[in-house]
Amino acid sequence: MNVLARHTADATTVEEGLAIAEEQDRIYNDEMATQTAMANTLLTPRFYTTDFDELDSVDVTPVREEWDRLIAQMVSDPNKGHFRKNEDWDTVDWEGMDPDLKKEFIDFLISSCTAEFSGCVLYKEMKRRGNNKDITQLFQLMARDEARHAGFINDALREAGLRVNLGFLTQKKKYTYFRPKFIYYATYLSEKIGYARYITIFRHLQANPEHRFHPIFKWFEEWCNDEFSHGEAFALLMKTDPKLTSGRNVYWIKFFLTAVYATMYVRDHQRPVFHKALGVDPDWYAHAVYEKTSELTRQIFPIVLDIEHPNWQPLLVALQKANADLAAAETVRGPLGMIKRASARSRAATAFLRLMMIPSIKNDVPAQTRLEPCY
Ligand SMILES: [Fe+2]
Ligand SMILES: [Fe+2]
Repeated sequence: MNVLARHTADATTVEEGLAIAEEQDRIYNDEMATQTAMANTLLTPRFYTTDFDELDSVDVTPVREEWDRLIAQMVSDPNKGHFRKNEDWDTVDWEGMDPDLKKEFIDFLISSCTAEFSGCVLYKEMKRRGNNKDITQLFQLMARDEARHAGFINDALREAGLRVNLGFLTQKKKYTYFRPKFIYYATYLSEKIGYARYITIFRHLQANPEHRFHPIFKWFEEWCNDEFSHGEAFALLMKTDPKLTSGRNVYWIKFFLTAVYATMYVRDHQRPVFHKALGVDPDWYAHAVYEKTSELTRQIFPIVLDIEHPNWQPLLVALQKANADLAAAETVRGPLGMIKRASARSRAATAFLRLMMIPSIKNDVPAQTRLEPCY
């Protein structure tokens, strides 16, 4: 039997999707892509683990109506079969691609694949360990989607002769422990900012198709709708316990918002050639994504960051510059290298703290949480 007749896009459960991925891991392998995905730095996607029993004990009764509607929509599975190459997939000229662009684009694909798979692994583990039907069903559905997303990026990488070995990552990548409430903040935000990032690129390329240098961007619309639903689920989970979005936790929310926004800024500025090829100014892009994300997070967070504050953009630039200097200092040996690295680290920390000190804007959370994708 031709194993490739089965595709992650058609998998209806995460187990099925991962079995297909595993078959492909055996056929294609690639050290470089997998090693890149293994990296654990402040800026690379991590794998997470949590207190699964605590998560399993969440009672969704207070949000039952909105919950059931969301689950029904996810069960109906509008994107089944979507995440695979079809006649819209134009030939990619990897050989003819500018080498700098190729390098940055591959880095983008590997990092996106790792991030998708990180969600898949966490969600699947929750589904496996839980007994609460509402929770296990949700996590099964989200893991299903992320397995498809990661599988599809691997399809794109394979054309360049690369593959992130998902089975190897599951076993060997380091897992970071986060308490459930931090998983909520971090994952909710990464799903919503993921939506905002994908839809902003998609709309930009709809208007400027000459910049679409790779076919994968054509799939971003349905893709970001999946991420949107996942974010909705986390918003409802947070809604079940008002403590999560009040009192001292508001500081945690501010910390996660700042960290997620700042990480995006620094990471995107590491790929100047990629953004130039897309015809996107990374500063404009960051701001457009923050605007959308802030608007969306008003559904559940009692604050939004003041991204129009006069210090906001200069501090992001300072943080990014400190990070670039830190990367450059990594190659400097001896005491000079140590001094340079220490100075860059302290500048980065100062910039981040000052970003945190910008007063946030209060937000009245609406009674109804659910939103529909509108961008
Ligand atoms: Fe995803
Ligand atoms: Fe997602």
